[in-house]
This record gives sequence, C-alpha cells and structure tokens, in this order.
Amino acid sequence: MSDFLLRPFAWSDVPAITQIYRHYVDNTAITFDTEAPGEQGIAEKYAGLLKLGHPVIVAERAGKVLGYAYASFYRPRAAYRFTCEDSIYLDPTETGKGLGKALLTELLVQSKAHGFKQMLAVITADTANSIAIHEKFGFERVGYYKSVGLKFDRWHDIVHLQKAL
Ligand SMILES: CC(C)(COP(=O)(O)OP(=O)(O)OC[C@H]1O[C@@H](n2cnc3c(N)ncnc32)[C@H](O)[C@@H]1OP(=O)(O)O)[C@@H](O)C(=O)NCCC(=O)NCCS
Repeated sequence: MSDFLLRPFAWSDVPAITQIYRHYVDNTAITFDTEAPGEQGIAEKYAGLLKLGHPVIVAERAGKVLGYAYASFYRPRAAYRFTCEDSIYLDPTETGKGLGKALLTELLVQSKAHGFKQMLAVITADTANSIAIHEKFGFERVGYYKSVGLKFDRWHDIVHLQKAL
C-alpha cells in the first residue's frame, strides 16, 4: 500500500513547489531555466495552468509535498492546442520510490480527459531516469536536438519522446 496521496494543486503548495523547482534550476540541467522563479513567479505560472484547465497534480505524504506534475501546451501557437508537454518534479529525497510512476499514470489519465491528443516529453539527453520512465510508459523517441541549451558552461542536447493519448 502506498503511503502518499495524489491530489489537485492547491495555492498552499506554492512555497513547496518553489523550493523543489529551485533545487533543479540551481543544481542541474534537467530544466533549462537558469534563474529560479520565486513564489510569485510560480503562483503566476500555476494560475495560468489552472485558468486553461490543464492538469496539475501534487503528491503528498502527511501534509508534505513530495512532488508535482503538470501538462501544459507544448507550444503556444493555436494549432498546437491538442499537444501537451509533461513536467514532473520530485523532492530530490523522494526519487526512485515509485512516485514518478504514480504521477505520470495520473497525468496521462487527466491529460486525455482534458482533451489533449499527444504528449511530448522534452528531456535533457543525459537524464537517464527520466528517459527510462517515459519509455516504460510507451513514449517513443521521436527527436534529438544537439547543443540547444547552454547551462553551467556546457552545451546540452535534448531528446523528444512522444505518446498518443
Ligand atoms: C524523473 C522522475 C520524475 C522519475 O520519478 P521516480 O519516482 O524517481 O521514478 P520511479 O521510482 O517511479 O521509477 C520509474 C521508472 O523510472 C526508471 N528509473 C527510475 N530511477 C532510475 C535510475 N536511477 N536509472 C534508470 N532508470 C530509472 C525505471 O524504469 C523505473 O521503473 P521500475 O522501477 O519499474 O524499473 C524523478 O526522478 C524526478 O523528479 N527527477 C528529477 C526531475 C526530472 O528529471 N523530471 C523529469 C523532467 S520532466
């Protein structure tokens, strides 16, 4: 039996989400943001997601936010409106325990229910566990882009994986 629950995003999650995301911005090239948004920036981003009705899911144990997942437009232009991109970020002490699988399972269900038809995962090419979890869920590698991100004085490649919903 799992000791965590999945639930919709609540405004009280903003500080924890800000902290989790900051870890990955400051210490990794998993995200290509180079400056971590503060709580106001996170609140504005999530307000945008909620306004559009895009799925935003939080994993929680005993009131503590363990991680989160959301689906947002892959690209802003109108013809892309049925194509989403997923984002999943766990507290770094909570990886490798099955939480990512639980969040991605629920995100796929909610993204399909929302009306998205395709999901893209845009992943920094050396992030093996993120590529592995998407392949496990049936995502297919469809693209590879060389040296498109410069972070920590290094050029980073990205891989695109895609799944029809
Ligand atoms: C990527 C991430 C979401 C995966 O979630 P997780 O809870 O750590 O992964 P899970 O324990 O659910 O494992 C899911 C699958 O990923 C793969 N995996 C997990 N850890 C792995 C590792 N260290 N190496 C290779 N594959 C790994 C396995 O296929 C695993 O399935 P299995 O346990 O049935 O073999 C999570 O580690 C994370 O938040 N990482 C940092 C942020 C990030 O990279 N986000 C993705 C960008 S959108």
